[in-house]
Amino acid sequence: MKQSSNEPPKKSKSQPRSQQKSKTLDRVISKAGLGSRTDARRWIADGRVAVNGRKVQSPDEWIDPAHDRVTLDGRPLTEKRKIYLLLYKPKGYITTAKDPEGRKTIYDLLRDVKDWLISVGRLDQDTSGLLIMTNDTAFGDFVTDPASHIAKTYLVKASLLLSDDQLDQLRRGIELADGPTRPAIVTRVRDSARYTFFEITITEGRNRQVRRMVEALGAKVLKLVRVKIGPIGIGDLQIATHRELTPTEVAQIYRLAAAPEARQRRASASLKKDRIDSSSRSE
Ligand code: URA
Repeated sequence: MKQSSNEPPKKSKSQPRSQQKSKTLDRVISKAGLGSRTDARRWIADGRVAVNGRKVQSPDEWIDPAHDRVTLDGRPLTEKRKIYLLLYKPKGYITTAKDPEGRKTIYDLLRDVKDWLISVGRLDQDTSGLLIMTNDTAFGDFVTDPASHIAKTYLVKASLLLSDDQLDQLRRGIELADGPTRPAIVTRVRDSARYTFFEITITEGRNRQVRRMVEALGAKVLKLVRVKIGPIGIGDLQIATHRELTPTEVAQIYRLAAAPEARQRRASASLKKDRIDSSSRSE
């Protein structure tokens, strides 16, 4: 059995990034679905974790999950059953585990679920709609990776009547402080006397993105509901409740995130990152 170490494993040029299997100890524990990396770091500091029978105190120790035997409280790290929930978040709840200000969080809606779960992406406090919750951190990372381009559809009530030209601007992409938005699918649902209601499908998950896009048009968002993630809509799900995603739904989302175009985008992003890393090393 090889010795785990505090040194990152040497990267072999002939070994693609995807085959470099070593991970830090805190990440290995979190990936097993037992808790967050912060939880894992605490358990390690408390002396509850051993690697190949040796108590380890550093969460940054490099581990080869295929060969190293990791235990927590003496029990081998067995993978938890993977859980994928679809939650219909009402307005007024924040997407965080703990709030120092004591506001309501999405976990208040999941009191009946005993497993540790993370949210896949976030919704603002004032946004309602669909959120996926899971203990599968790899799935969460994959789906929120900007290269995955998972489509998210929102129903928007704007504070003004918007013209066709303004909706076209949303479709083409809007220049925001953090860069232009990708093209979006936009459908006018209806106009009331004072407000436009429209649906927008975007493939990014930037902070307050839809609100900022609408603000760039000189309007405000009065109501925002996420009605669809990939192919999964609200259906019969009641507000403030949740249901398990079916294996088919999970597979559909995985398939979208792993589509050849997404793989291509990931490979280019990884290449770009390697170039930036190597040019900053040679400076
Ligand atoms: N865009 C926003 O502005 N807010 C959300 O919560 C989600 C998308």
